[in-house]
Amino acid sequence: MLEGRQLGELLIVHDMSFIERRSADTKKYIFYLFAAIAAVVALLTVVIAELSWRGLIAGVKALISGERDAHALDGTRVPELRPIARDLQALVRDLAAERRSRDESQIGWGPDALRRILREDLKGDEVLIVSNREPYIHVRHGNVIEIQQPASGLVTALEPVMRACSGTWIAHGSGSADREAVDVNDHVMVPPEHPAYRIRRVWLTKKEEQGYYYGFANEGLWPLCHIAHVRPTFRAPDWEHYCTVNRRFADVVCDEARTEDPIVLVHDYHLALLPRLVRQRLPRATIITFWHIPWPNPEAFGILPWREAVLEGLLGSSILGFHTQFHCHNFFDTVDRFLEARVDRESSTIIHGGEQTEVRRYPISIEYPPAALAGQPTVTECGSQIRARLGVSADLRLGLGIDRLDYTKGILERFMAIERLLELEPRWIGKFSFVQIAAPSRSSIDEYQGFEAKVRALADQINGRFGREGYQPVILKVEHHDARQVYTYYRAADVCYVSSLHDGMNLVAKEFVAAREDERGVLVLSQFTGAARELSEALIVNPYDIEQSAAAIQLALAMPPEEQRARMRSMRNLIQEFNVYRWAGRMLIDAARMRHRSRVLSHARSARPQAVSR
Ligand code: F6P
Repeated sequence: MLEGRQLGELLIVHDMSFIERRSADTKKYIFYLFAAIAAVVALLTVVIAELSWRGLIAGVKALISGERDAHALDGTRVPELRPIARDLQALVRDLAAERRSRDESQIGWGPDALRRILREDLKGDEVLIVSNREPYIHVRHGNVIEIQQPASGLVTALEPVMRACSGTWIAHGSGSADREAVDVNDHVMVPPEHPAYRIRRVWLTKKEEQGYYYGFANEGLWPLCHIAHVRPTFRAPDWEHYCTVNRRFADVVCDEARTEDPIVLVHDYHLALLPRLVRQRLPRATIITFWHIPWPNPEAFGILPWREAVLEGLLGSSILGFHTQFHCHNFFDTVDRFLEARVDRESSTIIHGGEQTEVRRYPISIEYPPAALAGQPTVTECGSQIRARLGVSADLRLGLGIDRLDYTKGILERFMAIERLLELEPRWIGKFSFVQIAAPSRSSIDEYQGFEAKVRALADQINGRFGREGYQPVILKVEHHDARQVYTYYRAADVCYVSSLHDGMNLVAKEFVAAREDERGVLVLSQFTGAARELSEALIVNPYDIEQSAAAIQLALAMPPEEQRARMRSMRNLIQEFNVYRWAGRMLIDAARMRHRSRVLSHARSARPQAVSR
């Protein structure tokens, strides 16, 4: 056995040497084989990678040149390249959005441009608009339900945007017949004649409306932000209602949202807490808040007992917009003063609690040409119609003021300027009247009731002093006029005087200009409006300076037609170029850019760990 085993072992030894010789040959063979295979695989990899890379590059080139759709890159055949492809797609979209925003002057800004942004940049993402004021109010008069459009700059601007974009507008249902008009989900389609979008109405009790709207929003924030020398009133119960109603609106936004990352457009000072409340429940939402009124300096804002809560509420926004850069700066200073936050004026951003808000200037505008112009009689006919309606002579020169009956609008100062004009230039007595259309507003607030009484008294005083049989220097109409009627007045007037003591933008100034395709008429405009920063061809005045304002009205009445034309033409060009579609479009483009950027970042984050595990 041992022998055999030894033999066997010898044999094995013999076998081993034989095998070793053979195996050396085989190893060489295998080595060459592997080397050859490796070379072929490497070559193939390079070729495939090269082809994929070229494909990718070609795809990217095609995308950039607009020849190919971004989704084409999804089909890249190399799985490893897919995350890169996705990131590139997002980047390319990002670049396209940036390129578009750089080239925004090249875009023909109208409803179609907005629809294109929604379709191409936002890929049909969900858009919700929220504001206190609704665009259409159902009001009951006996057996009849009338539909009114409220006098509101916010509605003037947003309504055409919504007609273009469709979607849902969430707002307080404040009309006496609003509940009768909605379906079981509190929705009603509007505009009544051509339904294009829906209103979701939010119901408030009388007490809530009193505390939230009349109280905190309009006796507190409104005078606080307007610095119109009306002392703001802050009451703890009003603040409680304000918080409750903001929470109610947040519930409705979340109820209406069909996706986790809708675009929510929040409007105005009634809803300052809403951005934070929505952010807490829909962290991936893009929240754009637009503040329609001025933002005061930190000293003025600092008297608000709940200043930190209001600021924190607003900083729930992804983007916070104001009409002017001046208001953006005031907001930066206010946050700097009262919150622990990183304020970067260079990049227009604020980082608070680890979240970033971009603070930007978006000067609001109007639809151009305005819908209310369609079907209007000629300017000459409008002039005759209005003078006939007022019962005045056909050659009476007309001044015009169109406002909500609000103490911020400078209506008293305006009347004082007219009185001074008639004192200084008696030749205008009997030859010039000023028509003031004042839409009743917030009438249950004492300050507004007192203001109306003062306005009526001053008009009576001037009419008593300079009026006579068949002639009133001030024609005061405290009643609601619809947009078509207002535009007929614009076309009939020789001078429009906007004398706000402080105003975010003031769209009356822009509407007057847009109404005058005859390039006639003169705009006298307060330097304390956002509009004065854009419409520099108006006669810009300090409305507190009664002498200067009277002189400006005199200048306007005496201005030669060529000069009127030159000024009007330039202002009309500006409004045409910077219309409300551009205002909304710029915000949506910025939202798209922000969403693309965050998608790129989250793709990059999710792609990295995968690469390591592989
Ligand atoms: O210009 C815009 C605006 O002043 C809003 O801030 C305000 O909501 C609206 O006009 C009119 O006020 P209200 O909604 O109280 O009628």
